[in-house]
Formats: sequence, structure tokens, C-alpha cells
Amino acid sequence: MPFALLDTKLIHEPLKYSGSLDHLEFIEVTPIIGREYPTAKIKDILGASNIEQQIRDLAIIISERGVCFFRASQDDLEVEDLKKFTDLVGKLSGRPKENGLHVHPLYRDPANVPMGNGKTDENIYVINSEAQKKMYRSMIKNRPVEPQDLAREWHSDATFESCPSDFSCLLMQETPPHGGDTLWYSGYELYDRISPSFRAYLETLTATCAQPVFRTASAAGNYAIMSPRGSPLNADDSFAPSHPVIRTNRVTGWKSVFAGLGLHVSRINDVYTYEDQMIREYLMRVLTRNHDCVARMHWTKNSVAIWNNSCVFHAATPDTHLVPGSLRLGIRASSIGEVPYLDPNSTSRREALGSAT
Ligand SMILES: [Fe+2]
Repeated sequence: MPFALLDTKLIHEPLKYSGSLDHLEFIEVTPIIGREYPTAKIKDILGASNIEQQIRDLAIIISERGVCFFRASQDDLEVEDLKKFTDLVGKLSGRPKENGLHVHPLYRDPANVPMGNGKTDENIYVINSEAQKKMYRSMIKNRPVEPQDLAREWHSDATFESCPSDFSCLLMQETPPHGGDTLWYSGYELYDRISPSFRAYLETLTATCAQPVFRTASAAGNYAIMSPRGSPLNADDSFAPSHPVIRTNRVTGWKSVFAGLGLHVSRINDVYTYEDQMIREYLMRVLTRNHDCVARMHWTKNSVAIWNNSCVFHAATPDTHLVPGSLRLGIRASSIGEVPYLDPNSTSRREALGSAT
């Protein structure tokens, strides 16, 4: 009997960098994660004659490095530019054609935070250290009176949707003199630090990512949840999808820990309660014990970070209340990607790079 050829083709073939951004000065933030562009202007990329090639290449770099910082002031970046840029990064890197920018479920909340110009935009999520205190009062009220555990800050964006965000882009318009840093963590490297036998087990698991607070908040405020939210598949108000604990990044073809930890992960499916807790605590322990997998951004006025939620977790640092009178104000757009999947033919980042780190 002839040997059957094993099908090793990936569901999404990894994209190849074409070199169109070689003219940009950059430094890698750490060996494992992050790239910083000290001088590049996003507006120049948007105005380039080969804009599509440059943005596609940037999407590949973001997906390989996890997060990119644009350190030079992006003060000429209008709200529409931020939206267009984020949308194109998702679109040109193979996002499902019917998808677009995320719409926050609670956009209709009367306490919805306006941008610095006083306007709101359904595709823009506003981060405002002052106004945010007034929103989600029900969540604040339930906060335990115990020493804070900042491990709960780690998450990837819109995991409560059937199609979560692939790329998020945050422009920080006002920054405190110190504090308010954001951290990103490599989900690729987290995967690579787990033993092969345990990885194989984790690859069999999915997790429920329930965020019932949206229904509670909309019912309390007597307004309808926004729908659809960047994809025809993000149209209901159940906010309890199941996602793979290990997923494949569609741009690189590399495996990353995904729904195994984070703010939006509520339950590892089909295991007993203590096993659920054990698995999530184990993954969080690997994360908190390995700070070399972190890229940390100290925000400067009008700097930008853009990241791939399929392969990094991120966490804001809630310490700006310690800096009296300071304001941290940012606007974020998020592209909505595909339904997360684990491709059995995908590889780990270290395997792909032949890296020993
Ligand atoms: Fe986030």
C-alpha cells in the first residue's frame, strides 16, 4: 500500500515580509517581544504610494514581535487616521472580509466617555483615567477590600466576542508625568515555556470567556447593547464564547497561549472546578515568574502602541491615582479578526525561528 502523504499545509499560510519598511529606524524592546520605532510617523505610512505593502509588512512585524511602539509624537494622527490605519492592518493581513472595527457593547451607555474633543465614535474606545472612574460603577462597587492583585489586569482585547480583536492600536494623547505604563506579554513564549507533554494536553482544551457585566450594565441603564460589533458573528448579547486555550496566529502560523488566562476567561471547559483553577493559576504563575517576556511602555504624549491580541496579553498599570491631578487619556481602535482556531500543523515560535531563548 502506498504511503499516504501527510497534509502539512496550514489553514492560513504565514505571510512573508517584503522589505518595504526597511527604511525605518527601530530597536527591539527585548530579545523576545516588542519593537520600537523612535522616529517613524504613521501618517507617512498612510500617505505612502505603496501604503498597502507597507501596512501588510507592518502587520507581519507586529505579529512576530507581538507589539510595536511608535515613540515619536503622532500629533498629526486624526481619529479617522487611527481608524483607517487599524482597519487596514487587520484587513491587509487576512482578516475575514466581512469584519471591520470593533464596536464597544456599551457604546450607548449615558456614562460613555467622550474623546478629548468632546465627541464619541462607535469605533473608538476611550481610555480616560478620570472619566473611567464614573463608568462601570457596579464593577467598582464589588471590588474586594484586600491588597490588590494586578494579575487580574492581564487580558487580550474583546475575548468576550465570538470573533475577538486581532489588532488593537492605542494613541495616548495625554500622559501623567509618571505611572500609567502598559505591559505586553508574549503568549508565544509562554507556550514555549511549558513542557511538551503539558502543551499537548492544553491543546485539547477550550475555555468559556464570559463577560456578563455587559448585559447587567445595559439592563441597569435601560439601553440596548450595540450589535453587530465588528463582525456578523459578534451580534448577540450572550458574551460567553468558547475559545481555544492554545491558538494559532493566522499571520505567523505560530502557537500562543490564548484563552488560558486573563480577565475575560471565566472557565476552562470540561474539567472539574479545581482543575480549572489549577490550570489557570499554573499559566498565571508561569507568566508572573518570567518577566523577560514583557515589553513595557512608558507612555509619552502622542505615542502609539499597536499589538496583535492573538499572541500577546497586555495589562495597564492602575497607579495614576497616586499622581495628583494627572490625566491619562487615550483613544483605541480595535480590528476584529477571525474565530480563534488551533491549527494542528502550526509550530511554536522557537521551533519556527530555531531559537534557544
Ligand atoms: Fe485592553
